[in-house]
Amino acid sequence: MKKLESREDIELLVNSFYAKVVKDETIGFFFNDIMKVDWDQHLPKMYSFWETILFGQMSYKGNPMAKHFPINHLEAMEKHHFAKWLELWKQTIEENFTGVNASMAITKSENIANLMAYKMEMARKL
Ligand code: HEM
Repeated sequence: MKKLESREDIELLVNSFYAKVVKDETIGFFFNDIMKVDWDQHLPKMYSFWETILFGQMSYKGNPMAKHFPINHLEAMEKHHFAKWLELWKQTIEENFTGVNASMAITKSENIANLMAYKMEMARKL
């Protein structure tokens, strides 16, 4: 099994992850129907996002939390959605990579997803 250590590795990881996401019954509709995601725009952002988190490249300049409030407003993003997101992310990593960065990609995603789930829930109560 390979280590997660280059931009090419991240591209493979992100592409394989979203290939699962779009086919998924629990969360696919957020991307396919609710937001009708422009993949040519979204995928490069996600490569940069993970490159920034894992390799400290600072190539991503955005506000991921803020981007999800409008989605949550259209369709509630609930705990079970985040659980599925995390399950697919973890599965994709474990199918392809090993090592410290692979573990870090899992831990970081858990932290962000938990915080995001909490913020989305709070936003729905306002
Ligand atoms: C149920 C869980 C989630 C759903 C349904 C979801 C959905 C989406 C969608 C539809 C977009 C694209 C928005 C657009 O086209 O403008 C997006 C963007 C993004 N998501 Fe998520 N997301 C989820 C969880 C997460 C998590 C856990 C992370 C981080 C670990 C994350 C990171 C991002 C980032 C970085 C962007 C790009 C933001 C930007 O445009 O700068 N998402 N998400």
